[in-house]
Amino acid sequence: MSAETTGDPAALLDLAARTAREAGELLLARRLTDEVSVAHTKSTPTDIVTAMDTASEALIRDRLRVARPDDTILGEEGGSVPGGSGVRWLVDPLDGTVNYLYGLPAYAVSIAAEVAGEVVAGAVFCPPAGELWTAVRGSGAWLNDQAVRAGDVSELDRALVGTGFWYDSGLRARQAELLRHVLPRVRDVRRIGSAALDLCSVACGRLDAYYETGLHPWDWSAGLLVAREAGARVGGLPGEAASRRLAIAAAPGVFDELRSLVVTHGADVVGSPVVAVRGASSSGGC
Ligand code: IPD
Ligand code: CA
Ligand code: CA
Repeated sequence: MSAETTGDPAALLDLAARTAREAGELLLARRLTDEVSVAHTKSTPTDIVTAMDTASEALIRDRLRVARPDDTILGEEGGSVPGGSGVRWLVDPLDGTVNYLYGLPAYAVSIAAEVAGEVVAGAVFCPPAGELWTAVRGSGAWLNDQAVRAGDVSELDRALVGTGFWYDSGLRARQAELLRHVLPRVRDVRRIGSAALDLCSVACGRLDAYYETGLHPWDWSAGLLVAREAGARVGGLPGEAASRRLAIAAAPGVFDELRSLVVTHGADVVGSPVVAVRGASSSGGC
């Protein structure tokens, strides 16, 4: 049996990292071509899929299927294709599609591997920066060949906090209301436009914390593992793993305060059936 037919986390990471890099290089090479056109929209008129989202996912599915034909693959654009190996891949082929469309350099390919329901390996590649973020559960987190650590801020009013918004305008209004309560309590807020990069930013102290409501497992699975392995606390609502209701990662010293602030002012933001988990997965919590 070759390494790639087992659930060995190091082998899964190797495949995730190679594939994320290859897909990212494709995205970068085609950025200035006609293929970066709006192909169609999804949940709302602003929720776009470019031809390159689709091309990136096709490449990733092909590489994963050739290496590991029995694995399940859940990808943002192609849905779930079941397999019987016990390994499931969670794929966002282009996280930060709007940035990509506009030529803003904050977009990434995110690939995570889950074994028996637990994320064990994750890779996030940001092509314009040439930055590859990797983590294996229990073995630390890396930016290219350097180990990374989350920040050590202990006061929320000194914390730089990232967040993001849904494509649905009604839900955005509720997220804005939540933000109204967060903004005066923190150093400042950033909306980078890629959940995967937000989470990796927490992993190396570019952000002190990040929260978002309404994400999908393909958005957070790889990045949350990177943040966790870098020493950040990660999770969802109190006592829960990250979910569509809340995904949060923060320097340990500000995690509790930020989460309780968000829960106090935003518990109902996405607490409706509309966010029932699609292809549910969790990356652990605390
Ligand atoms: C989006 C980005 C964005 C976040 C949205 C996501 P996409 O993913 O991660 O930062 O705020 O919630 O949907 O659509 O670019 O893959
Ligand atoms: Ca995404
Ligand atoms: Ca995407």
